[in-house]
Amino acid sequence: MRKKIVAGNWKMNKNFQEGIDIANELVKDFNPSDSNKKLVVCPPFIHLSALAELFDKSEIGLGAQNCHTSGKGAFTGEISSEMLKSVHTQYCLVGHSERRAFFFEDNEELYQKCKQLLVKEIQPIFCCGELLEDRKEGEHFDVIEDQLEVLWKLSKTDFEKVVIAYEPVWAIGTGETATAEQAQEIHAFIRSQVAEKMGETIAENTSILYGGSCKASNAAELFSKPDVDGGLIGGAALKAEDFLGIYNAL
Ligand code: PGA
Repeated sequence: MRKKIVAGNWKMNKNFQEGIDIANELVKDFNPSDSNKKLVVCPPFIHLSALAELFDKSEIGLGAQNCHTSGKGAFTGEISSEMLKSVHTQYCLVGHSERRAFFFEDNEELYQKCKQLLVKEIQPIFCCGELLEDRKEGEHFDVIEDQLEVLWKLSKTDFEKVVIAYEPVWAIGTGETATAEQAQEIHAFIRSQVAEKMGETIAENTSILYGGSCKASNAAELFSKPDVDGGLIGGAALKAEDFLGIYNAL
């Protein structure tokens, strides 16, 4: 059975102590309802090591927001997958729309990042999603298809570790959520693409998360759709109570 996941992306928010405070609240109040339903926190790099310790005895998973395409070397300011592994990071976002837009990450770079993570047995949470103009032009399926190309270059064994997140860019941080039907339509399309390239069994086992203004009040409806296996949460992951409210909708 594929995993249900609610992952929180803190982005560039929270100083060290503020991050510790949220993590402590999560540890205190988190009641894993089922071993198949995962809660994952993706804080900025500076928090990873401390949160790994705080989460050690809880069921909360730890993710990073980025890693470099190379294993090590003269890349000032960058972080490698080996460094992430050394502080017990289990997941890492790849290809978030903000990284595509502000740091010009392209398919080749995203493929290299996935490879680096998979060598260290860190699960990529691969993000895809169309811009508002793509949707207006009716090109959303084509855009997603092109973004997914990165994943078809992976071996089946590697691909099985990947979590996919569909995040329409027009819904990120805007308060405008995709309707549950719009999310389901794209999630079903993504799963059909996985089935075509990797086979039915792998497609059935792939977790596909929805992201974009997901909150406790709309999560249950989104998660009720058959191909929506959880959420990637930005703003609403910055308060433990809100974030756990979304988890409880799984
Ligand atoms: P949001 O962000 O929940 O604040 O819309 C989602 C994301 O960017 O992952």
